Amino acid sequence: MNKLFSAGITGTGSFLPEKVLTNHDLEKIVDTSDEWITTRTGIKSRRIADDQIASSDLATKAAEAAMEDAGIHPEEVDLIIVATATPDMAFPSTACIVQKNIGAVNAAAFDIEAACTGFLYALTMGEQFIKTGFYKNILIIGAETLSKVLNWKDRNTCILFGDGAGAVILQRTEEEGMLASYLGSDGRNSDSLTLPAGGSRMPISYKTIDEGLHCIRMEGSEVFKFAVRTMGSSALKALEKCNIALEEIDFLVPHQANSRIIEAAAKRLKLPMDKVYINLDKYGNMSAASVPVALDEAVKSNAIKKGDKVVLVAFGGGLTWGSSIIKWIK
Ligand code: UT7
Repeated sequence: MNKLFSAGITGTGSFLPEKVLTNHDLEKIVDTSDEWITTRTGIKSRRIADDQIASSDLATKAAEAAMEDAGIHPEEVDLIIVATATPDMAFPSTACIVQKNIGAVNAAAFDIEAACTGFLYALTMGEQFIKTGFYKNILIIGAETLSKVLNWKDRNTCILFGDGAGAVILQRTEEEGMLASYLGSDGRNSDSLTLPAGGSRMPISYKTIDEGLHCIRMEGSEVFKFAVRTMGSSALKALEKCNIALEEIDFLVPHQANSRIIEAAAKRLKLPMDKVYINLDKYGNMSAASVPVALDEAVKSNAIKKGDKVVLVAFGGGLTWGSSIIKWIK
């Protein structure tokens, strides 16, 4: 086999809508309390996009910030991958809408759907394109407007999620920045986290709307148990692939679903919580956007420094899970 090229993240960006919905605001909508949400999840507030704002609008802003951070022009982008469970529409892809918005006239573009693990799937896919030499500059985005697919009468789900977008530029680099990745799935347990209506199995009808089937449904405790098992083990699988010991990890950027799930993962990786980035208190669970937004904030706040070995890990609907071990080379 020919020699592979090296890949690395050279820029990050994120964008959050301005409107804040606090736990106290939710107390007025459903039978819940700030105390319950805080102790069970760690979430205090989340951002909500305005009615006329779609995932591509948030994605575009995050993409522009990431390109500026990496110092590349839109015409240099070879490929755009958008990870989202809340695309603007079935087609065109959200990636094509972003391609138009930013003027990336030389880029191919497509979406990928692996729910909350979507960004890790997209990053791993981008890594393959760079390492084989097929592309040099890839824009990878996680963008969600989950507020649009929530049942605001269902306290089991509406308290958990929020809107936002995060992006990275992945480029061919001199130094290796993508040390290893690991992805997994288990479709047998897909029923525990679904958005049943609106596809070819169950097109939207008055009946599906009456029954709230066009909104997220979740068996919370099933997903919780799966997440506690999976977050640590998938990070360990990726670490094993690149032969990195637990003591060598500098920082963890996990999917932001629940602070208890994150604490369990940190424990499994023997990391103190000051080496773990948490922003779910501010934003809730932003599905595919959680990891790239957290990565951007961790880098910009200097929690991640040049040379650090960082674990990115996520789990989500599908069921899916994934982890990437990156070296911060910027
Ligand atoms: O990115 C992937 C997406 N999903 C997730 O990551 C979710 C993973 N799961 C979780 O984070 C947790 O399971 C939840 C936070 C969703 C729920 O926490 P839990 O400790 O598993 O609670 P539970 O579902 O076992 O419910 C405990 C009680 C129930 O009442 P009873 O049956 O004991 O009387 C619920 O009805 O809490 C009740 N409950 C609530 N009470 C106040 C459920 N939601 C609420 C609420 N406010 N919002």
